Amino acid sequence: MDMMEKVVALCKRRGFIYQGSEIYGGFGGFWDYGPLGVELKNNIKREWWKSMVYERGDVLGVDAAIIMNPVVWEKSGHVSSFTDPLVECKKCHHRFRSDKVSDKCPDCGGEFTEAKKFNLLTEVFIGTVEDEKRKAYLRGEITQGVFVNFKNVTDSTRVKIPFGIAQIGKAFRNEITPGNFTFRSREFEQMELEYFIKPDEKEAEKIFDFWKNARMNWYTSLGMSKNKLQFRKHKDDERAHYARMAEDIEYEAPFGWSEFEGIHHRGDYDLGNHGLKYKDEESGDEYIPWVIETSGGVDRATLFFLVDAFTEEGERTFLKLHPSLAPYKAAVFPLLANKEDLVNKAREVYQTLRSKFFVAWDDRGNIGKRYFSQDEIGTPWCVTIDFQTLEDNTVTIRDRDTAKQERLEVDKLLDYFQNILE
Ligand code: GAP
Repeated sequence: MDMMEKVVALCKRRGFIYQGSEIYGGFGGFWDYGPLGVELKNNIKREWWKSMVYERGDVLGVDAAIIMNPVVWEKSGHVSSFTDPLVECKKCHHRFRSDKVSDKCPDCGGEFTEAKKFNLLTEVFIGTVEDEKRKAYLRGEITQGVFVNFKNVTDSTRVKIPFGIAQIGKAFRNEITPGNFTFRSREFEQMELEYFIKPDEKEAEKIFDFWKNARMNWYTSLGMSKNKLQFRKHKDDERAHYARMAEDIEYEAPFGWSEFEGIHHRGDYDLGNHGLKYKDEESGDEYIPWVIETSGGVDRATLFFLVDAFTEEGERTFLKLHPSLAPYKAAVFPLLANKEDLVNKAREVYQTLRSKFFVAWDDRGNIGKRYFSQDEIGTPWCVTIDFQTLEDNTVTIRDRDTAKQERLEVDKLLDYFQNILE
C-alpha cells in the first residue's frame, strides 16, 4: 500500500472520513466526516477563527446564506467566467479537464473533442410551483456572501478601513474530475478573509505580503512541515477572472505539489461590480475599496494535516497531530478493567478532564493495545490509573510522540494539559 492508500484506509477504519452515500455505492466528489473527522475539522476551523478574528482587532465575522439571489453570480462574473476547459473522449465519452490530461484519453487511448468551456456553478431550483421555479446556484465560493453584506457590516458596526470580514462555510463546484480523496470534491468548505483597504498599489502589495506570510506561518505553527510547503505565484494566464495578483500555498502531497490556499488581490472588482462604495466619515472621501483575500480550503487543510501527521516508526503508526488539532486531547485508562477501585478512580479522572476537553475512555485489552489504538488517531497523551494511584493520587502520563512516561499528581493534570494547549 502506498502512503495515500494507508491514510485513506485509516480515515475510514477509525472514523475520520467516509465515502459519501457509501451504502448506495457513493456519489462522486462527496465525502462524509465521521466522529473523529468532525473533531479535527472543527479544531482547524476554531484555530483559524481564533487567529483571524479573536487575536486581531480589525476583523469581524459573518455567516451568509449558501443560496443567494442569482443576480449575485451574474454580477460577480461567475456565470460567464467560472469555467474549466472540458474535453470528451470520442471513443469512451469520458470527460476530463483539458489542462489535466495529454492529447489521448487516459482510460482508452481515444481522441479528444475540441475543448469546451464548462461552467462549475451548481444549479438548484427554488420555489413551490413547478412553472415558477427559479434557477439559483449553490455558491461557488463563499466570498460573494461577504461582498453583498459589505454595506450591512459597515452600517451596523464601527469598522473603519482597513478592516476584514471573515467567514467559514460550504462551497460547491461541479468539478469535471473530482479525485485524490477529498482534495477535489464537489462540496467542500472554505475559510476566507476579505481584507478591505484604500486603493493604493504599494499598500496593496504590502498587505498582500503580510497575509501571505501570516497564512503560511499559521500552518507551520500548527505543526505542518515547513519543507513540505511552498508558495507558487500564478502566471498571467491562469489567474481567476477576479484576481490582479494571486499566489498559492502548496503542500507536497503524495500526488504532487498541490494548492490548498490562495492569496488574491481582487482590487475593486467585486465591490465595483455590486455597485458598492465606502465613505470615510472623517475625510469625507468616497471610494471603492480594494480587497486582499486569503482563501483556504478546510477539507484540503484537514487532508494535508492528516497526511503530514501520518508517521510510521517500526511497528508503531501514529498521527503526529498538533495537540490543538488532535480529536481527543487525552485518553484515560484504568490499568485493569476488572478492579472496581481502579475503574472508579479512573472514571473520576475521566469526568474531571472531560469537563474541559474531549477525552477518550478505554478499558479494553491490554495497555499496549490501548496505546496503539490512541496513537493511530493522534491522541497526544494517555493517562493510566494504576495501583500506585490509589496510594499517592499520581497517574502515569504517556506522550504519543516520544512514548515516554512520567508520573503526575491527579490534581495537576488539568493545568498540565491546559498549559500546553493554550
Ligand atoms: N474566493 C476565492 C476562491 O474561492 P479558489 O482558489 O478557487 O479561490 C480557494 O479556492 C480554496 O478552496 C482552494 O485553495 C482550495 O483549498 C479550496 N477548494 C477549491 N476548490 C475545491 C474543490 N473542488 N475541493 C476541495 N477544495 C477546494
